[in-house]
Amino acid sequence: MSVGRCVAVVGATGAVGQELLRTLEQRDFPVRELRLLASPRSAGRQMEFCGESLPVEVLTAESFRGVDLALFSAGGATSREFAPRAVDAGTVVVDNSSAFRMDPTVPLVVPEVNAAAIAGHRGILANPNCSTILMVVVLAPLHRAAGLERVLVATYQAASGAGQRAMDELLAMTRAALDGARPAPEVLPHPLAFNLFPQVDVFQPSGYTREEDKMQDETRKILDLPELRVEATCVRVPVLRCHSEAVSVELSRPLTPAAASEVLAAAPGVEVRDDPDGRGLPQPIDVTGRGEVVVGRLRPSRAFDPGLAFWLVGDQLLKGAALNAVQIAELL
Ligand code: A2P
Repeated sequence: MSVGRCVAVVGATGAVGQELLRTLEQRDFPVRELRLLASPRSAGRQMEFCGESLPVEVLTAESFRGVDLALFSAGGATSREFAPRAVDAGTVVVDNSSAFRMDPTVPLVVPEVNAAAIAGHRGILANPNCSTILMVVVLAPLHRAAGLERVLVATYQAASGAGQRAMDELLAMTRAALDGARPAPEVLPHPLAFNLFPQVDVFQPSGYTREEDKMQDETRKILDLPELRVEATCVRVPVLRCHSEAVSVELSRPLTPAAASEVLAAAPGVEVRDDPDGRGLPQPIDVTGRGEVVVGRLRPSRAFDPGLAFWLVGDQLLKGAALNAVQIAELL
């Protein structure tokens, strides 16, 4: 840690924070000094980075003195309060919360899709919603090849999207259920063990949830398609850390599944695994720990003509969060 930048990770103890540390280390991000920041609950805790044990410090307005880059993943309220203070201290912020994503002055970036958007940033860059990142990595090359008209998507979202405590709750409630107990959930809004529920984030007056709104609004911003219609149904499933999505798209021009497969195989950050008789069905269990979005079940849509239907899986904590944030930092 002698050359490079002074980097702060805000929310270092969380599910995404821990992956941020691993991702910085694995990608040899040039770190001269690392500051681990979290709430007073974590004061005194030590975490490992590059073979060193570092103390977790309590986040305060003074935490950013001398910090070049801050990766925030501690929820919207923390970002709203502290990201502007970091910018005032001369720090560039990559924010994983939803606080600034739809601010027209803040770039919303998926490096494989709209890297050029980082130009002209004013100190804060936003990391998109996890389900949206995974979907746009696949939609962007299809849009370039055949034009995107509209999108229908159902998600199968892992517990990790709701944080480390939700992952712990899924494990604890699964154990309890096997023992015949049915404790009430404290972190998630409904029981997740041996169950699923069609609610991610809070309901809006429209009847959609905020997560479903994010999938439309953020996709429009990232792809620069302000009129694109995205109908999402977001579902929490008892999986630890990979999101899956069943997607149907209406296209402007016909694109066969074989041609789409070629387009996607050549696209950055995408792996096509479309051999259902072999080991070709993308599943959370195989995609955990991977940086690519894995796509399969490519077939002609029966709802949209011309159109395609497909299935994708991505690691929510990596491409859906920590990896995308570190890729944005690398672009800087
Ligand atoms: P802590 O572990 O001290 O509570 P997750 O998304 O997995 O729940 O993680 C949330 C992260 O955000 C954790 O690192 C948590 O720290 C941190 N965090 C939550 N609230 C605050 C706060 N008010 N100030 C600083 N860090 C916070």
